[in-house]
Amino acid sequence: MVLAARRFVLGVSGGIAAYKAVDLVRRLRERGAEVRVVMTAAAEHFVSPTSFQAVSGHPVRTALWDESAEAAMGHIELARWATDLLVAPASADLIARLAQAQADDLLTTLALASAGRLWLAPAMNQQMWAHPGVQANVACLRARGARLVGPAEGEQACGDFGAGRMSEPMEIVEAVAGIDLREIGASMQGKRVLMTAGPTLEDIDPVRFVGNRSSGKMGFAVAAAAREAGAEVVLIAGPVALCTPDGVTRVDVRSAKQMHDAVMARVDEADVFIAAAAVADYRPVAMLDNKRKKSGDTWTLELVLNPDILAEVAARPKRPFVVGFAAETERVEEHARGKLERKRLDMIAANRVGLEGCGFESCDNALSVYWAGGGEEINLGAKSDVARSLVALIAARMAER
Ligand code: C5P
Repeated sequence: MVLAARRFVLGVSGGIAAYKAVDLVRRLRERGAEVRVVMTAAAEHFVSPTSFQAVSGHPVRTALWDESAEAAMGHIELARWATDLLVAPASADLIARLAQAQADDLLTTLALASAGRLWLAPAMNQQMWAHPGVQANVACLRARGARLVGPAEGEQACGDFGAGRMSEPMEIVEAVAGIDLREIGASMQGKRVLMTAGPTLEDIDPVRFVGNRSSGKMGFAVAAAAREAGAEVVLIAGPVALCTPDGVTRVDVRSAKQMHDAVMARVDEADVFIAAAAVADYRPVAMLDNKRKKSGDTWTLELVLNPDILAEVAARPKRPFVVGFAAETERVEEHARGKLERKRLDMIAANRVGLEGCGFESCDNALSVYWAGGGEEINLGAKSDVARSLVALIAARMAER
């Protein structure tokens, strides 16, 4: 969503790094972005437009004076369409022409006609990059709001060593994806978010417990993303080995009952409640004061139902916007939508457990998000990224209400 809501004009200027831009298109599209490629005349000396056409799925534009292309989508239309103009590689010549606000080819004209974000991934020889003229042009573009990605330092195509290499496509994707959520309209400014994360552990005796498998990573990432979106965040955390995200207030608990009490003490002040914790459904009827001695071949442990924190919050007469999680192994949508209705939630985020590269201890995840009358898929990605997409969806749903 964070990239899926974005439309990129990728401007390719003349540099040996132009070949890396082919991979960049692929990676942007993998993350859900739409990409249209515009090449300068110099870029065509390095890569053929056919390569970009194949990876972008759209015809590539190379000239301002192409009648058929102008008839399909005029350059002003293309400039308006773009949420982002990403120039990679950005040659010294292109940077100079942008700094002078020239409009002598299609790419520079688009840069003037577009109100979208301008990103530059410079690529040139290290001596050129260090030149005061180039640095002055870059400073001037920066002052006008352009965002720089790189250049990186290292061995160059010409054999030199130093700063001037274009950043790797993955780094460029991370940089363009990493804009503040508020910038894409996903603001939670002034909203108070209360949430749960991690497992709960239910003690049997002083050394044993029953509990759920949960690293807490997804919930902590959601807390960080909500904070980034401008919310005040209180995170009720079960036992996990994670650092508290910057600016988030954390309350540590161990058992479901403690988590329940910590939530209920604060829920009246919350605008949003997000239940990401893997709460143990049952706890031992009573905790033994002393370690239970080994005896017999079997051991029957009597358990009693824990309070359903999420359902209880959703059932309150004056309630916040309520978001639940669901870990499902099959028929994800059916089960998640069932839970959405049964617990009277505003939104539910379901993940399929057991999917390769996804879930519990992993740093990656994918979510299917549902609400009454709608839904959206958040593709497999870093949990931090998936969390930002989820927060963007919550902000959008809340704004609609
Ligand atoms: O019903 P199920 O346990 O699958 O529901 C999962 C959702 O309910 C999660 O959002 C979880 O945090 C929340 N939950 C809760 N209290 C419980 C059990 C689950 O808040 N006792």
